[in-house]
Amino acid sequence: MDGNVAERPGGVAEARPAAPEYVDGPIRAFAIATVFWGVVGFLVGVVAASQLAWPQLNLGLEWTSFGRIRPLHTSAVIFAFGGCALFCTTLYVVQRTCRARLFGGEPMGWFLFWGYQLFILLAASGYVLGYTQGREYAEPEWYTDLWLTLVWVIYLVAFVGTVIRREEPHIYVANWFFLAFIITVAMLHLGNNIALPIDLLHAKSYSVPSGVQDAMIQWWYGHNAVGFFLTAGFLGIMYYFIPKQADRPIYSYRLSIVHFWSLVFLYIWAGPHHLHYTALPDWASTLGMVFSIMLWMPSWGGAINGLMTLSGAWDKLRTDPALRFSVAAVGFYAMATFEGPVMSIRAVNSLSHYTDWTIGHVHSGALGWNGFITFGALYWLIPVLWQRRAMWSTRLISWHFWLATLGIVLYITAMWVAGIMQGLMWRAYDANGFLQYSFVEGVAAMHPYYVIRLLGGLLYLGGALLMAFNVWRTIAAAPQPAAAMPAPAAAVAAE
Ligand code: HEM
Ligand code: HEM
Repeated sequence: MDGNVAERPGGVAEARPAAPEYVDGPIRAFAIATVFWGVVGFLVGVVAASQLAWPQLNLGLEWTSFGRIRPLHTSAVIFAFGGCALFCTTLYVVQRTCRARLFGGEPMGWFLFWGYQLFILLAASGYVLGYTQGREYAEPEWYTDLWLTLVWVIYLVAFVGTVIRREEPHIYVANWFFLAFIITVAMLHLGNNIALPIDLLHAKSYSVPSGVQDAMIQWWYGHNAVGFFLTAGFLGIMYYFIPKQADRPIYSYRLSIVHFWSLVFLYIWAGPHHLHYTALPDWASTLGMVFSIMLWMPSWGGAINGLMTLSGAWDKLRTDPALRFSVAAVGFYAMATFEGPVMSIRAVNSLSHYTDWTIGHVHSGALGWNGFITFGALYWLIPVLWQRRAMWSTRLISWHFWLATLGIVLYITAMWVAGIMQGLMWRAYDANGFLQYSFVEGVAAMHPYYVIRLLGGLLYLGGALLMAFNVWRTIAAAPQPAAAMPAPAAAVAAE
């Protein structure tokens, strides 16, 4: 074990002045919003899954059609649920590990909270009404993009301002990942939304780049939304909350620095793996593939660092279901980052692309990694933020864990089987060289798997509802006097 800031000379708690008064109100609001948007986003996912199994559920209305419900789902889970989780944890962690009050104080924190909620509402209403740029994960039209730009710049100022006024000499590694996430998302958002508004009444705009350049920019954005929003940001969560939950310093501080630099350097090049066999030049496609394969190493290095933090504390998994969420999350992260590089290989991608295999890959990362690491962090954070001794019910956390795990297993195995079957059916030829199956036969063959996926989604949603109930009961309980609070974990620096 090398180097946790808490163990450094001069890092001894009694030698320090009292911690400043942290800005926690907006963080509490972001925690509640995370739970709320999680339930909403999973519910819309369940609706989308039902529509794929039974198309009649599109209801024949344009507002409820799959084409509008799908981006509503992806944005609700990524930007509303994931985004609020990231705001909540970054603002909490940066203050504690820097021993500094949030730059800009309460007004800045509340602006971020309400500003981001307004962004979510603008985006969601646009999807349902049919205002879209048609760029995956960047669907909102220019008026929503401009508002998000303002909120994001203030977020960057608040975060960097807090780091600059820190009383800790050291910048804890979680903050490195958070900063990379905030800066890169700003860059991606600006780069991918260069558009000319052409019709103010219908909020329509067109992208300035065109053709293959436009596609390349979109997937540079799309892949790095995965790399920096769904990965770097959530790795910051891992680096703070797993040591806290396990009450152990991070396994290797040196490995975390190697992990950071190699991950941010490699991710940014991998976008072209989304455009194999298109008008993209071969060299660009090969570049994307090679960098994706190299990404395997930092991804697993990080996963090992997270898991090994538990060495000597594995027994805690028996009694702490919240820690179980975080550890399982790292397991799913390792799985998704093993599968991703394999799928980026052109020969494999020729089978997997356009099929449900991709959807299975997405959800092993999304449900297993992003969902679980967030649930683990929330179960640790909510009692701390509301000064309760623990969550209202540990049993309910355990139920949530098992329901969600079973849900993921059903979801991703159904999609793997469906995806590989789809790919093989599409490329099967008969003895005369004709396609063996018509497209609609492939669609019909998917039906049972879509029903299984729906069942998995319902279990996952059911677990999230238990979490919402548990969170509500915890907050509604009486606060615990300070003396009855558990001793704070010594695992992560400052505080
Ligand atoms: C109850 C849980 C969930 C259910 C039932 C669900 C269901 C679905 C469905 C039916 C689709 C459309 C698939 C298609 O077009 O063939 C989809 C797409 C997607 N979902 Fe979910 N989802 C859930 C949770 C999540 C979460 C938590 C995240 C992210 C944090 C997520 C991220 C995505 C993404 C990124 C896509 C687009 C994938 C692509 O275009 O390749 N989902 N989901
Ligand atoms: C080393 C890490 C990873 C690599 C190299 C990788 C690679 C890939 C590849 C090759 C595809 C299919 C592209 C296509 O055929 O169009 C894909 C899709 C996707 N992956 Fe990953 N993946 C990685 C990790 C993750 C993780 C951790 C997540 C987290 C949720 C994730 C989310 C997604 C999403 C959302 C898509 C669907 C994009 C779309 O078409 O809409 N990936 N990934």
